[in-house]
Amino acid sequence: MKTTVICPGSFDPVTLGHIDIITRASGMFDHVVVGVLNNLAKNPSFTTEERIALLSEATTQLDNVEIVGFDGLLADYTKQHGINAIVKGLRAVSDFEYEFQQALTNKKLNPELETLFLTCNSEYMYLSSSIVKQVAALGGDISSFVPECVHDKILERLKSK
Ligand code: PNS
Repeated sequence: MKTTVICPGSFDPVTLGHIDIITRASGMFDHVVVGVLNNLAKNPSFTTEERIALLSEATTQLDNVEIVGFDGLLADYTKQHGINAIVKGLRAVSDFEYEFQQALTNKKLNPELETLFLTCNSEYMYLSSSIVKQVAALGGDISSFVPECVHDKILERLKSK
């Protein structure tokens, strides 16, 4: 049986921490769907289309990775698309409570769905999309935070926000 997993998130914008998790999942599973949440409650810096385009460019070398936008419940999306498991990165203990709550909610909504956590690379322990936005907005160097191929596009947008 082929295993399809989903790496869901806001990706506003994609960071090297996200790429690390997606790359490792791509080496472990047959098919990796990167699910970009469409209906962000918070005001996103990048539109769904922009976030999808940045992720597509940054994962172009990974043949078994597909980038999609999704709305509504993740548990419903996985059921409708034959996805076997959710793969998420865990950075620190502080992530755990929120991630555990989401994993249990998703399991309740779709009992066949598993959530797998990959320990993040220690180099990216501190990294988040919010940190990227904050540093860029204040004129800092984000080159070690985001994929090189999309660095300029991310910087342009965040500078002009
Ligand atoms: O990158 P983020 O913001 O931590 O990603 C959160 C995400 C997209 C994984 C989560 O908000 C999500 O799955 N949203 C879809 C709505 C849903 O299914 N909610 C119930 C599970 S808690």
